[in-house]
Amino acid sequence: MSRLVIVSNRVVVPEPGKPPPPGGLAVAVHAALKNREGLWFGWSGKVDEDPNVEPTIAVRDNVTYAVTDLSSADYQEYYNGFANRVLWPILHYRVDLAEFNRSDLTGYLRVNGLFADQLTKLLEPDDVIWVHDYHLIPLARELRQRGVNNPIGFFLHIPCPPPDLLFTIPRQEMSLGVLSYYDLVGFQTENDRMNYGRYLVASKATVSRDGTAYSIDGRMMRIGAFPVGIETEDYAELAIQAENTAFSNEVRGSLADRKLFLGVDRLDYSKGLVHRLEAFGHFLETEPTWVNRVTLLQITPKSREEIPEYSDMSRDVNELVGGLNGKYGEAAWTPIRYINRSYSRPELAGLFRQSAAALVTPLRDGMNLVAKEFVAAQDPNDPGVLILSQFAGAAAELDAALIVNPHETEGMAAAMKQALEMSLDERRDRQARMFASIARHNINWWAETFLAKLADTRRSFLIGQLRSLFT
Ligand code: G6P
Repeated sequence: MSRLVIVSNRVVVPEPGKPPPPGGLAVAVHAALKNREGLWFGWSGKVDEDPNVEPTIAVRDNVTYAVTDLSSADYQEYYNGFANRVLWPILHYRVDLAEFNRSDLTGYLRVNGLFADQLTKLLEPDDVIWVHDYHLIPLARELRQRGVNNPIGFFLHIPCPPPDLLFTIPRQEMSLGVLSYYDLVGFQTENDRMNYGRYLVASKATVSRDGTAYSIDGRMMRIGAFPVGIETEDYAELAIQAENTAFSNEVRGSLADRKLFLGVDRLDYSKGLVHRLEAFGHFLETEPTWVNRVTLLQITPKSREEIPEYSDMSRDVNELVGGLNGKYGEAAWTPIRYINRSYSRPELAGLFRQSAAALVTPLRDGMNLVAKEFVAAQDPNDPGVLILSQFAGAAAELDAALIVNPHETEGMAAAMKQALEMSLDERRDRQARMFASIARHNINWWAETFLAKLADTRRSFLIGQLRSLFT
């Protein structure tokens, strides 16, 4: 079996006993590399004025981690700049929040070049390369220019909006258009895939007769939808083990028989926290019998704190939480526990298992693995209810959740009431349907389906089969 080389912007070398970094990408890639020989290359998360030109190498189990630092100019222009102030907002349908300047794009392209320089030296001829997420869109072109001829796939973990929004990305021939240097580009949902396919056609690419391949300036690529999953069985087992730990019991005891609503999100404007909190306030306002009988625990690690849109929203959320707790709180009850730290996987699994409902209500999300982990963690005999935004990629699969429009405050508040009052039969039925879906399409299915398609695409290129689809 050839070695799998994963490239992503952020790489956290696992340390025993420490929680993995928040975010679906890290969770998915860690799981995909388990039981495979692999190399994972990317940014160490450190900023250094004089970064090494060679990556730092560490080996954990069968995975080699190669991480590199960024200079502060790289960090500002590539990470805080083009990746997170242009691509992130636009791909999340928030053109209004995008801030573009040319030096950030130059930094973005420069870091992709630096990554390609370092990675090329680590590659072996049989390696299969799988690049992840919006930070690294131009990486395949950089690698090809350095003579790398290995199969290279790309997976976009975040949404792909319709062409009209994609066309707002400035100078996209330098950024988005270069995806065509990959052999295979994967998206979370059919909707994302179709949006990108329409974008390619609008950008004058030729589409193959079977509609799965595109040709741009003589380069051929395939695109497909591969919804990312979780380690469903392992997670379910973890939640059983986590049910009665000292931590779980302490939280349960502190609730004093009140129901628990749980939200777990990075502090990000795409997660719809303000909308969720307003809906919870509306629920308490309109359903006074539930006042002092339900607590919302919102776990929200801070992220990208140097970016102004993030500090603005941090302030908004703080104010809203303070206002609601002031208005509805009592001497012995705080309606919202708002926490800016992360918890370990077992701790979260234990919290999911004791929750009456999870509030997964992003305004836009590529997939949202919290939704899937919540389902995996439930006791099938007495499961909690998943309240899920129609704009999370997960809603395409988890249609037995209570699907809500996060922009509709009253509808969200009604779903909160419905979740608390739902019969045991209905909860079991919804849970069984959702669990079957995440058991079928788990993380192994995701990685294997993508990698098999990548291998097949390369084979078709080599024997010229794909080319014949265009003639
Ligand atoms: C999302 C993105 C990932 C990213 C993660 C955390 O899940 O898809 O690429 O790593 O958020 O964000 P950060 O900026 O802290 O890496």
